[in-house]
Amino acid sequence: MALIILRNIRKVYKTGNLEVAALINLTLNIEQGEFVAIIGQSGSGKTTLLDILGCLSHPTSGEYWLDGDNVHLLPDSQLTTIRNKKIGFIFQTFHLLPRKTALENVQLPMMYARASRAIQHDRASELLTMVGLKDRLYHYNNQLSGGQQQRVAIARALANRPALLLADEPTGNLDSQSGNDILTVFEQLHQQGQTIIIITHDPLIAQRAERCITLLDGKIMSDEMAHPSSATKG
Ligand SMILES: Nc1ncnc2c1ncn2[C@@H]1O[C@H](COP(=O)(O)OP(=O)(O)O)[C@@H](O)[C@H]1O
Ligand SMILES: [Mg+2]
Repeated sequence: MALIILRNIRKVYKTGNLEVAALINLTLNIEQGEFVAIIGQSGSGKTTLLDILGCLSHPTSGEYWLDGDNVHLLPDSQLTTIRNKKIGFIFQTFHLLPRKTALENVQLPMMYARASRAIQHDRASELLTMVGLKDRLYHYNNQLSGGQQQRVAIARALANRPALLLADEPTGNLDSQSGNDILTVFEQLHQQGQTIIIITHDPLIAQRAERCITLLDGKIMSDEMAHPSSATKG
């Protein structure tokens, strides 16, 4: 069974008498271990899809299965649980706590999940080392560059071993070098088997992913492997 199954997903927003169909009969499978970019112009439905994939909102109709759970049938209270257990979020603006160290920020989701202090500390150090911040464990946010803050955010997103890493314009606030480095971190995670979905409006970022899905007016316009030449080798 695919990690993500979307079947005939519709999302309709109602404002007064006006209805906007932001997603129209969207059907899609994503397998465990895939590295997928979802791109599309402003207004094409990316944020709406991110909210649904991230269990932040329900579709108006259709089915969403995540890791065997039929998310579309679950009440909002259970969406929160699924979100905490199965999804790691990475945002354009990092969303780290300002008066905490890198280590504390990464420990936080494990604290909510009631891991022991020792496990919190060991796993947080291990993750920060993996993203290249071994020598920044006790730095506060304002002592880190944007690229370093995003690395902390990636480590934090991975803390509870999520089935799905969901990134919303993760390089949008970074200079091109730091953005490149962050994409390299994603590539390394992909090689380790992590499922990753990046939502972006930037085709250059999408090229770094393994598969690229383009939205247009709430529908899938194209769905292609980004490196067809290497995919056909051997
Ligand atoms: N909360 C909302 N209420 C009404 N319409 C919305 C709302 N959110 C998004 N929309 C509409 O749904 C469509 C898709 O929006 P969105 O998912 O934000 O696209 P994108 O992230 O690709 O720019 C747009 O036409 C937008 O105006
Ligand atoms: Mg958007």
